[in-house]
Amino acid sequence: MTIADIRLTPRERAAHLRANDLHRLVGLVEHDDAADPFPVVGIDAVVFVCGNATQSAHYFVSTWGMTLVAYAGPETGQRDHKSFVLESGSVRFVLEGAVSPDSPLADRHRRNGDGVVDLALEVLDVDRCIERARSQGATVLEEPHDVTDDFGTVRRAAIATYGSTRHTLVDRSRYGGVYLPGFAPHSSGFVRRPGAPERLVQALDHAVGNVEMGRMDHWVRFYNRVMGFTNMAEFVGDDIATEYSALMSKVVANGNHRVKFPLNEPAPGKKKSQIDEYLDFYGEPGCQHLALATSDILRTVDALRAEGVEFLDTPDAYYDDPELRARIGRVRVPVAELKRRGVLVDRDEDGYLLQIFTKPLGDRPTVFFELIERHGSLGFGKGNFRALFESIEREQAARGNL
Ligand SMILES: [Fe+2]
Repeated sequence: MTIADIRLTPRERAAHLRANDLHRLVGLVEHDDAADPFPVVGIDAVVFVCGNATQSAHYFVSTWGMTLVAYAGPETGQRDHKSFVLESGSVRFVLEGAVSPDSPLADRHRRNGDGVVDLALEVLDVDRCIERARSQGATVLEEPHDVTDDFGTVRRAAIATYGSTRHTLVDRSRYGGVYLPGFAPHSSGFVRRPGAPERLVQALDHAVGNVEMGRMDHWVRFYNRVMGFTNMAEFVGDDIATEYSALMSKVVANGNHRVKFPLNEPAPGKKKSQIDEYLDFYGEPGCQHLALATSDILRTVDALRAEGVEFLDTPDAYYDDPELRARIGRVRVPVAELKRRGVLVDRDEDGYLLQIFTKPLGDRPTVFFELIERHGSLGFGKGNFRALFESIEREQAARGNL
């Protein structure tokens, strides 16, 4: 079996992605599901709570070039909140906002601000996964059950992970509708100008969780034990500590590498760690950033900047450092093009990657996005941690939180 033979999800096929594309974009590899105690196909959806999902949906369509495909709300019988489903390549975001002041989402937003409430996973057998999760001590939030409409049946359940974040488990093999039963197809009336952004990102590469000091290994073991995820890479405090802040990070991944979860915890430093700042403003552990894969990071960054998206600055010194120049070697574009945009480079024994980070997406200094273009490297930009953190710290200092 070769990469080209890997079975793709209907979502990936609809986005005209091929297995080789996904191998290059996110490191997709073949995997034997039969021997896996908790076979995960991939991330089904990232579900956000928003203070104003109606306007956030417009932002993702107009600025990020995503496509609005489905909706549920009072008009479709979902009385207390609105849900907008957006797609770009194989990425699926669901934005939820309270309609009724009594909606639990209103309380959730009061506590966390805009953020990720659910990293939903597509699985082959919901019942088998829940049985495994329970036997390994996971908290089952929703028992397996069927939901049905005219387009078929979805079997789903949910388990708890860090903070109030959940993993809904979804088996959609018997379903042909646009998202889930209860959702109606929906499109945006937004008319793109010629040249406006369209499908700037192709796939979700990784989703990072921030947890409390001393809890990272607990959650690494949780994913090892409950989901059979393996450890991909390990960063220790010494590698990435700066003068003022520090963190520890480890990465777990599912068998086919579509799902990669780095987990961060703060490490002791002279001043407040960026992870502590997140925990203070989110109010509890939660998802810190989502890395979105693109095959042309320069085009994507230019298009997003033109729409007003703000990225973290990278000091000129980063590009002029002879040590860095020597370490990164040859990349597909001149370093001057990367410098002009603030795109970072990292290299390991397998290849290199290009990456850049947005400023926080909402009002609170919590969740943000990363754009990543991989060229063989399966890393996460370890070599960039110092340059990146120094830049984050300048922002933190400007907010008075350092
Ligand atoms: Fe990342």
